Parts: sequence; structure tokens; C-alpha cells
Amino acid sequence: MRLESPESSVSRAAAILRDSRRLMAFTGAGISAESGVPTFRGAGGLWERMDPGLLEIGRFDADPGASWAAIRELFYAAAPDGGRASPNAAHRILARWEAEGLLSFLVTQNIDGLHSAAGSRRLAEFHGSIRELLCRRCGGRVQATSEALDAGLLDSLPPRCPSCGEALKPDFVFFGEGIPQAAYSAAMDAAEMADACLVIGSTGVVYPAAQIPILAKRAGAVVIEIDPGDTEFSVGASDIHIRLGASEALTRLDALIARPK
Ligand SMILES: NC(=O)c1ccc[n+]([C@@H]2O[C@H](COP(=O)([O-])OP(=O)(O)OC[C@H]3O[C@@H](n4cnc5c(N)ncnc54)[C@H](O)[C@@H]3O)[C@@H](O)[C@H]2O)c1
Repeated sequence: MRLESPESSVSRAAAILRDSRRLMAFTGAGISAESGVPTFRGAGGLWERMDPGLLEIGRFDADPGASWAAIRELFYAAAPDGGRASPNAAHRILARWEAEGLLSFLVTQNIDGLHSAAGSRRLAEFHGSIRELLCRRCGGRVQATSEALDAGLLDSLPPRCPSCGEALKPDFVFFGEGIPQAAYSAAMDAAEMADACLVIGSTGVVYPAAQIPILAKRAGAVVIEIDPGDTEFSVGASDIHIRLGASEALTRLDALIARPK
């Protein structure tokens, strides 16, 4: 099978985006790779150096300190220089497309909070985020802001609830936990209504999240995928596959979509 060139796929995708009235995007770990946050799968992925079991809720409950040590290293100090990760061009373009009315809704599987940091607001964080820590005993919440982290929030692990002393859990979905209801409903609604769905940087093996682009396609959306590699979507669901990194693909698309000033 001959692969379509990036020039051709970008130009076909730009034509669809220009005509779209209800564009949604669905992002995975790949969009944050250029911010220095490692993906789970593939070369250099987290699973090469981390035991996935540390993100199971049963393991966390049995030994929160061990899970937290890995989580702190991977998600709270994820930039290559050891500092905290920040949004890249791909996150920023999606946020601007929302502000310009081109992007109706964004569903992310990522927990890194980078879409929100870039300014996206019509956003469902399907797997929660690292921004808040939750006490499952008293319901207390602690914001994991840069200031709180700099002040030593995660110096001693596990961090403890200031009200009751229970180990705090990052408010993202562990293996064995359910999807937050509000994010689930918002994502399903967006998929039902979309006329085009941009899928960026996801292998499509984590369920139920991976259903979202499939539902959008069944409801009539054109699926445009951006991923340098093959994925579960590229073998069936994707109508167009742009085989580039997220920043380069979105920068090229952005340049081709003329919008009224
Ligand atoms: N940044 C994060 O918050 C983060 C990081 C790792 C895992 N996770 C979680 O783990 C699950 C992993 O599944 P997934 O499908 O999101 O990711 P994944 O790790 O399974 O797959 C990542 C995909 O990104 C692609 N990719 C790599 N570099 C890219 C780039 N520069 N531009 C575009 N694509 C690129 C890879 O080819 C791959 O297909 C998610 O559900 C998510 O919750 C989140």
C-alpha cells in the first residue's frame, strides 16, 4: 500500500477543516510528546521504564508512596531539563482555533493539564488531570499549582490531606477507576454532533476513550488523524492520516486555513 504524502494529506484535511461547522478534536499522549511528557507506548515510552501496575488503584491504595514516587517523576517534573512541562505549538493552535470559533470542542485523554494551560476552555479531560489532589476520605481538594509544588507539596510522599491526614490521590483516573461522569457525557455529546474529528497522537487502545472518534465517525464525522505512526484508528476509522508530529501538522494546517480577520 502506498502511503499518502504529508503535503497531500495536509491539503485534503485543510479543505475539510475550512468547511467544517462542528469540528472536534481528540488528543492523546502524542500531542504532549514535544513538551517533553513521555507517551506510554512506543520507543522511549513510559512502559519501558515504569511498572504500569503503579497506576492501578489497588496498588496505589496498598502503597501510595511507591505510586507517588513514579507519578512525581513522570508528571510533575516532566520537561527534559527537569522543570515542569509547558504547552507546545500544537496545544496553543487548538486553543486559538477555539477562540476563533473553528474548534467546537476538545476531548483529551491527557492528564498533564497542558490544553487548559494553553487556554482551551471547551474541554473534557476524559481521564482527569494532575492539577488537583483529592482526599478520598473527607473529599478535600488541594491545588497542585506551581507555587504549591515550589513550596514543597510533593517533597514528602505521599502528600497528606491538610484536614484529615489521609494520603492524597492525584485526581486522574487510575486503572480500575471509572471515567468522570461530566467529562464522559460532554465527550459523547461532542462526538454525536461533530462533522469532523481531528485525532491527534493516540494509539487508540485505551477504552472507553478510544470509542469517541469511532462514535463521531458513525454519526457522520470525517476523521482526520495526525500521528507519525500507525494506530488503531489509522487502519480503519481515519479518512485522512497526516503522518507528521502534532506541532508541524497543525502549523501547516493553520497556515492553509484562511479565516476572516
Ligand atoms: N501527557 C499525558 O498526560 C499522558 C502521557 C502518557 C500517557 N497518558 C495516558 O495514557 C493513555 C495513553 O494512550 P494514548 O493513546 O493517549 O497514548 P499512547 O502513548 O498509547 O500513544 C501515543 C501516540 O502518539 C504518537 N506520537 C508520538 N509523538 C508524536 C508527536 N510528536 N505528534 C503526534 N503524535 C505523536 C505515537 O505514534 C502514538 O501513536 C491515555 O489514556 C492517557 O490518559 C497521558
